[in-house]
Amino acid sequence: MRLYRKATPEDDFEIARISIEGWKHAYEGIMPDDTLNALDADKRAEERGGYIKENPLSSVVCLEAGKPVGFIDYEKCRDSDCDNRVGEVWAIYVLPERIGKGIGKELFSKALTDFSRQGFHEARVWVLSENKLARDFYERQGFTTDGAQKEYQGLLEVRYRKAIEPAEV
Ligand SMILES: CC(C)(COP(=O)(O)OP(=O)(O)OC[C@H]1O[C@@H](n2cnc3c(N)ncnc32)[C@H](O)[C@@H]1OP(=O)(O)O)[C@@H](O)C(=O)NCCC(=O)NCCS
Repeated sequence: MRLYRKATPEDDFEIARISIEGWKHAYEGIMPDDTLNALDADKRAEERGGYIKENPLSSVVCLEAGKPVGFIDYEKCRDSDCDNRVGEVWAIYVLPERIGKGIGKELFSKALTDFSRQGFHEARVWVLSENKLARDFYERQGFTTDGAQKEYQGLLEVRYRKAIEPAEV
């Protein structure tokens, strides 16, 4: 059975593990092997826990048979060129063996619904230019690039945006 719920601090390690599996899957041949091989779930979970203690972060996990298989992190947009009613998907990862089964779409939809309920008018996401799988996915969800670019760990990131419909009352 598949279930979606808000993430709790107890999910930090599994979320770190999923994100590392996702990095290795998505960034092989894009990021250096040494960088990918050095990823450590305990360290990433600890960093996540520390961050959440100090900062707001909305996060939803997908569970199958009670075990997390995907997650989405989202919050207010961190870009300097937006108002405070713009949301940003900060991370979305599905375990590689569960990719292509509708989990990402459902996680994305939950974040966008939450943005809409908060009265946000736009959602944004940054993605590595070479991450074709994710770019295809965002485009399928109706996002389009707006030409903005930035650097992440020496690699090029591009920005996608989508207008959000107001929530029904
Ligand atoms: C990007 C990601 C989160 C998408 O999640 P997912 O569970 O695989 O996506 P879904 O199964 O919900 O697919 C959603 C849509 O994309 C389509 N899709 C899925 N895989 C696809 C592929 N390889 N190529 C093209 N379309 C694809 C689906 O057919 C579906 O289309 P629809 O909206 O018309 O029904 C997932 O692939 C992933 O974790 N990738 C690795 C990590 C990553 O790159 N994260 C993003 C970092 S910015």
